[in-house]
Amino acid sequence: MKNIILIAPPGAGKGTAAKQLVDELNMVHISVGDLLRAEVKSGSELGKSLNEKMQTGKLVEDSLIFEIMRKRFAEPDTKNGIILDGFPRNTVQAEELDKMDTTIDAVIYLDVDRKVLEDRIVGRIVCPDCGMGYNTNSTEMMPKVENTCDKCGATLIKRKDDTKEIFDSRYDTYMEETYPVLEYYKNKGILYNIDSTNKDHTFNEILKIIESTGPMA
Ligand code: AP5
Ligand code: MG
Repeated sequence: MKNIILIAPPGAGKGTAAKQLVDELNMVHISVGDLLRAEVKSGSELGKSLNEKMQTGKLVEDSLIFEIMRKRFAEPDTKNGIILDGFPRNTVQAEELDKMDTTIDAVIYLDVDRKVLEDRIVGRIVCPDCGMGYNTNSTEMMPKVENTCDKCGATLIKRKDDTKEIFDSRYDTYMEETYPVLEYYKNKGILYNIDSTNKDHTFNEILKIIESTGPMA
């Protein structure tokens, strides 16, 4: 059982790599962005205020994120090993995670140039049902049938925050708040960097890092 964190700017491939890991290693993918979007979709009052925040590209309040994460960590499937995607996103969240009784084996930083990220975000389309991601700006990431999920056949949609303007804000938030978290884990000796410009390369490098931390048990 391994627990890993993926830290990276918007569009670097956290969700894409996590889905591959779920298929290959049966790990559990915890995407905070997906959890928040599910709340927005529910139409609740909380969802409405989350939506406003997320459309600015800023982070949602820490206290709310801690509540969501505590609840998610208490579910039994987390014993299979987890991939944290989108948590922690600032050093306060990293310190809180240390108190949450979840041992982290590796923190993996996915490195991609800003211009490439912008192209990916603007071209990204996602499956609203299974969460699979595609990209109209990349021939290898296009769905086999236009606007249709290869995996489950649902009609693909665009995320509301996937505009050039909101990307700029998300990227700035990442640089200000999340990038310093890398230093936090570097000091703990569990930070790994990989180039994330090719989907298969990214996945294989992550597998190697997980193997290097010891047997799966
Ligand atoms: P979240 O949903 O996590 O958004 P994000 O961090 O901006 O990341 P993305 O989901 O856009 O990118 P990704 O790295 O998953 O890339 P993907 O695999 O899709 O968070 C959304 C919002 O929620 C935040 O802005 C914030 O408001 C809030 N929030 C979330 N967590 C929070 C927290 N802890 N605290 C407070 N607020 C929080 O890939 C992108 C595209 O690239 C795809 O089209 C794919 O086909 C392509 N691609 C992927 N990998 C590769 C590769 N290796 N090579 C080539 N192409 C690739
Ligand atoms: Mg994602």
